Amino acid sequence: MCGIVGYAGARPAIPVLLGALKDLEYRGYDSAGIAVLDPTGAGLRITKRQGKIVNLETALDGTAGQATTGIGHTRWATHGKPSDQNAHPHVSCNGEAVVIHNGIVENYAELRAELVAAGHTFRSETDTETIAHLLEDRLKDGDGLLEALRRVAPRLEGSQALVAMAESEPGAMVAARLGNAGGVVIGYGNQEMILASDLAAVLPFTQEVAFLADQQLVRLDRSGASFITVDGTPVELPRKRIPIDPVSALKGEYQHFMLKEVMEQPEALSDTIWSLGTLDPAELYLDDLGDARDQLATVERVMLIGMGTSLHAAMLGQRYIEALAGVPAETDNASEFRYRDPVIGPGTLVISVSQSGETVDVLEAMNVARAKGALQITICNTEGAQTTRVADGTVYTRAGLERGVASTKCFTASVAALYVLALGMGLARGKLSREELQHHMNDLARLPEAVARTLRDAPVCEREAQRFKTAGHILFLGRGLAFPAAMEGALKMKEISYIHAEGYAAGEMKHGPIALIDADFPTIAIATRHALRAKIVSNIEQVQARGGTVLAIVTEGDGQIAALADSAITIPEVPELLEPIVASIPLQLLSYYAAVQRGCDVDQPRNLAKTVTVE
Ligand code: AGP
Repeated sequence: MCGIVGYAGARPAIPVLLGALKDLEYRGYDSAGIAVLDPTGAGLRITKRQGKIVNLETALDGTAGQATTGIGHTRWATHGKPSDQNAHPHVSCNGEAVVIHNGIVENYAELRAELVAAGHTFRSETDTETIAHLLEDRLKDGDGLLEALRRVAPRLEGSQALVAMAESEPGAMVAARLGNAGGVVIGYGNQEMILASDLAAVLPFTQEVAFLADQQLVRLDRSGASFITVDGTPVELPRKRIPIDPVSALKGEYQHFMLKEVMEQPEALSDTIWSLGTLDPAELYLDDLGDARDQLATVERVMLIGMGTSLHAAMLGQRYIEALAGVPAETDNASEFRYRDPVIGPGTLVISVSQSGETVDVLEAMNVARAKGALQITICNTEGAQTTRVADGTVYTRAGLERGVASTKCFTASVAALYVLALGMGLARGKLSREELQHHMNDLARLPEAVARTLRDAPVCEREAQRFKTAGHILFLGRGLAFPAAMEGALKMKEISYIHAEGYAAGEMKHGPIALIDADFPTIAIATRHALRAKIVSNIEQVQARGGTVLAIVTEGDGQIAALADSAITIPEVPELLEPIVASIPLQLLSYYAAVQRGCDVDQPRNLAKTVTVE
């Protein structure tokens, strides 16, 4: 969620950086800061303030300064509360290295202890500051800035995008993209270079850009950029001319919005999770719940509603609320709920899930719930949308704008938000202890990286999709928490590739669907290491016994199922409750590649609208 900008050129850096940070304001932030490096030898000047960019501007007092190189940042707190001190940039003890960062240094506690033992003094509570101190040590050992960052990179666990400057290298900066914590776009101007976390801040300068890939580093100064990989190999990055056409511009390096949005999920998850709580110490904010928060401890039952993909997210939310808060929960399709005179009242909490917040059936169902006196919370990705105005409280997802009609990043972000809401309910009701909350926040902290690792296997999904692209029908099977994920996988497949697909609870197989199975009717089974794994093994065998083929989604290291199935896609092992989020990634990619291979209009599938505002 953090915004990153850097500039090296001939103009005064401060106004350039402030303008670029404003272009990134839509990402949301709680503090902002800049560091500029004066070529006349005056050294680093760092200014940072909690709150809006206007606070930073006031602190800078309208001065443009002499410096023509600098970096700027907007922060969403993950480690340490929003404050001037925790705002980026962060500087090393001797003031030599300065860093801005997007992502989480998962092993920051160990690194911090090691650095403190070695004599470093920390000025903030952030994980980011460890990077500045690590860089200082490398620079003291004689490394140049790029080599210093290259050697620090493998020490950082998790996904990061980061930018650094050093006093000893005026006029230059380095950046690295490690995993999928967010992009680094490099813009080529005329004797000036700019970099930023996304195109919005680069395009006002130049249409000539390059995108840093995972595990790549860049060093830039006003005359250009050079690139290496983390293992030190120099690389050439293709420059791309971004057309003025704003839609193509927004697609960036991707052919379709859907693929872009699928790839953005680590960042969308991380932004959502850390806008709702912190890791160290484990705290939940849930600020937009307002007064509804006080009633989480007393509601008697929960009813979750939504449509399409959001309904599948709601189904997972139901499981989370039961498992983490111990409250009876049900899910209903909003278009059914609104007409069935549901038996609800003041003791019921109705949770509506709608990324747009404008879906007509959801809004009408909410009106029914309001008329019956139920408490309402909505999960929404759109600030100020209608659902947020009707509900008593909101849990916002921070997935950013989703343009593909097929919902992807909003699905996983909604599921993560429901998980955090369930934690909040569990805590409020005494079902969860503080230690358990910490444990769950640790699990959530590792989730974006697990999703990023899964995304790296996109080429495997592209290959596997070849086998499905000519199928007339596909069956998606899952049990337990994998059932809603199977439903979602089938919905994705049918809406963008137009292949008929059905998601079933695997236990239902023998009650009808198995009659369909033959050599032309493939099955995709979510067979991860969940509690019901043994049962899904028998479902796979039953499909195969009828001549059907099975692609299994399996947990890394599960050779047994991989060998049993006709083919397999592996996902990293994560705690069971979070497994459906990770298992959904290959399903999204399979449907995307099948649709592309069939020549379908991925972003605007026939007959569908992104937001359904009419019945
Ligand atoms: C999902 O890919 C669909 N486009 C659709 O099912 C969507 O999730 C549904 O219309 C609900 O939209 P909402 O989240 O904006 O309410």
